[in-house]
Amino acid sequence: MKATAIAPANIAFIKFWGKADPKARVPQNDSISMNLSACFTTTTVEFLPELKHDKIKFIEEDIVKAKELERIKQALTYIRKLYKEKYFARVVTQNSFPKAAGIASSASGFASLTMAALFALEIKLPEKDISKLARTFSGTACRSIPDGFVEWQKGTGPDDSYAYSMYPPKYWDICDVLVIVSKTMKKVSTTEGHALAATSPFYNDRIKGMPEKIKLIKYAMQKKDFTDFGNIIENEALNMHAVMLTQTPSLIYWEPQTIEIMKRIQAWRDEKIMESYFTIDAGSSVHVICKKQDTGKLAKLLNNIPGVQQVIVNYPANGARIINEHLF
Ligand code: PMV
Repeated sequence: MKATAIAPANIAFIKFWGKADPKARVPQNDSISMNLSACFTTTTVEFLPELKHDKIKFIEEDIVKAKELERIKQALTYIRKLYKEKYFARVVTQNSFPKAAGIASSASGFASLTMAALFALEIKLPEKDISKLARTFSGTACRSIPDGFVEWQKGTGPDDSYAYSMYPPKYWDICDVLVIVSKTMKKVSTTEGHALAATSPFYNDRIKGMPEKIKLIKYAMQKKDFTDFGNIIENEALNMHAVMLTQTPSLIYWEPQTIEIMKRIQAWRDEKIMESYFTIDAGSSVHVICKKQDTGKLAKLLNNIPGVQQVIVNYPANGARIINEHLF
């Protein structure tokens, strides 16, 4: 059967950096994220008897790295083995946003691939098992399966490390104004980066402080206290990047424009122009979080900064789901 799934990218408020079990992609700490309404991947999968190998196509992308194709093939091989499927698959996939500029394209990509492949094989699983399966292909993909605001519990191992929905998208009227400052692919993949996290002298302290940080952000989310929430996420992003910067070899994902935007956000707060907070994943793009009513004004302010290439407004969104329009 042919099946198509759509899955959102997600932005982490409390981030995943470093794995307890690299092969199964079990993290060292719990993380918390929000699904993004305007950044998503659509993937169609069909297992076909006439194919001699998996046939994978990215729509509207000139350069697809061999490594990326290999990772998708490995995921399909894993699913085939798990469900005793003998046919190879035709896969067509399309991103709604520029890849690898610090937006988790692997999260939405592997979440949509997992969902579509399962549906194509007519396999029905509970959400947490879909989340676990997506996690084995790309850690953060597990957070793109449930709806809205999501927690990924690290668990004790592969069997209980999955994400669940803390709140539906409508729970809180906040917004992620994503600012893209460079469209070149990052040079170091997160898979390579995670593996070296523990070489930073700050890593152990980061992990030790996590349970308290998670407790505080959950409290801020429960109260919908935007100021407390914002201060926690901004500090958390800098904490993760402090580890990245001090790994061996060091990982500097930022561009000069990334720092310019961070400084503007803080200055706008000090000058009472705009209350917003930044967070940054593994790339140069800045995710600026604001209250929904401030979205238009913030997007305008950000668009006026020289060097900004694109601004994408995202509201909290649902997780992965099956749709009826196919890509082939
Ligand atoms: O893309 P992954 O699953 O290797 O992990 C990347 C993790 C960060 O984006 C840097 C942080 C996070 O929790 O999303």
